[in-house]
Amino acid sequence: MMKTVLTSPEELLKEFEEKINSEQKIEPLDWMPEEYRNHLIRQISQHAHSEVIGMQPEGNWITRAPSLRSKKILLAKIQDEGGHGLYLYSAAETLGVSRDQFIQWLHKGKAKYASVFNYPALTWADMGAIGWLVDGAAITNQVSLQRTSYGPYSRAMVRICKEESFHQRQGYEIMWKMMQGTKDQQEMAQDALNRWWWPSLMMFGPHDGDSPQSANAMKWKIKRETNDNLRDKFINKTIPQAELIGLKIPDSKLELQEDGTYIHSDINWEEFWKVVNGDGPCNEQRLEHHIKFHNEGEWVREAAIKSGLK
Ligand code: 3HC
Repeated sequence: MMKTVLTSPEELLKEFEEKINSEQKIEPLDWMPEEYRNHLIRQISQHAHSEVIGMQPEGNWITRAPSLRSKKILLAKIQDEGGHGLYLYSAAETLGVSRDQFIQWLHKGKAKYASVFNYPALTWADMGAIGWLVDGAAITNQVSLQRTSYGPYSRAMVRICKEESFHQRQGYEIMWKMMQGTKDQQEMAQDALNRWWWPSLMMFGPHDGDSPQSANAMKWKIKRETNDNLRDKFINKTIPQAELIGLKIPDSKLELQEDGTYIHSDINWEEFWKVVNGDGPCNEQRLEHHIKFHNEGEWVREAAIKSGLK
């Protein structure tokens, strides 16, 4: 049977929408509206940058890990994050933008990355809090993104989620161990939770009503759940984990409801936007570090291209 060739923009759009509505994936060579393509380029590349910039606060602790076991685990975890960045850059490149362009957008401040990585990691307990809370929040989002409508992004998410759940557990294990330790260690764990709790909740983005990208993201099934839904899921599952090991969530308004969900305080949105817009405690440091090592690594990229590795 001869296949009808679709030509008019209306027909192409109709076919695209039918695919989205029937849960089929959009693949790189399929026709897609430019707004859909641009939305994905923005989100996936920002996601990739988050993975890579996220290596910095933890990399800071490799040489100071308290045992060989914890050093090996931390090294492997950070290496995983670099790998996640590579899957995601590759997925984003299928949309027709080069890796160099993504990096330029990052260096020029045009592309964002998760605001949470602009906070400093001050003690070893921060390695616990980052793994448990930051990776825990990231997984909550990424599990739902496994069902995103763009094929390469969805497949990258499936692989990433498998590794990310180990990261969450290694962080929780650090917190659990510290809570079984001396009073000083317990205080250090509590202090790390106090500092990372709110930035972790901010990872899900602004409230649904203040999220300009959400309407298209939900319509095109790029995002499968809203920012607030995902944040609440994370809050509801993380509070019992804190209580189990004797940690206290730093929120005086916290109240358990009959349905197992929590009433909680609102996020400090002024702080959120300040950090997103470049004025957090470590924004400058994170970007400068990336630019410095990207430039110093030029010879590695050149050597890889010459030897046919790229
Ligand atoms: N940090 C920095 N910027 C943020 C942000 C955050 N936590 N939350 C929102 N923003 C930005 C958005 O990028 C958007 O700016 P833009 O239009 O210039 O891109 C603006 O604030 C408004 O937010 P919206 O809610 O309208 O934007 P989105 O619909 O894109 O939602 C998001 C934001 C929830 C972060 C969404 O983009 C998303 O789900 N992204 C994929 C997941 C991701 O990037 N995760 C990074 C987490 S870190 C990680 O995975 C590493 C792991 O190893 C720990």
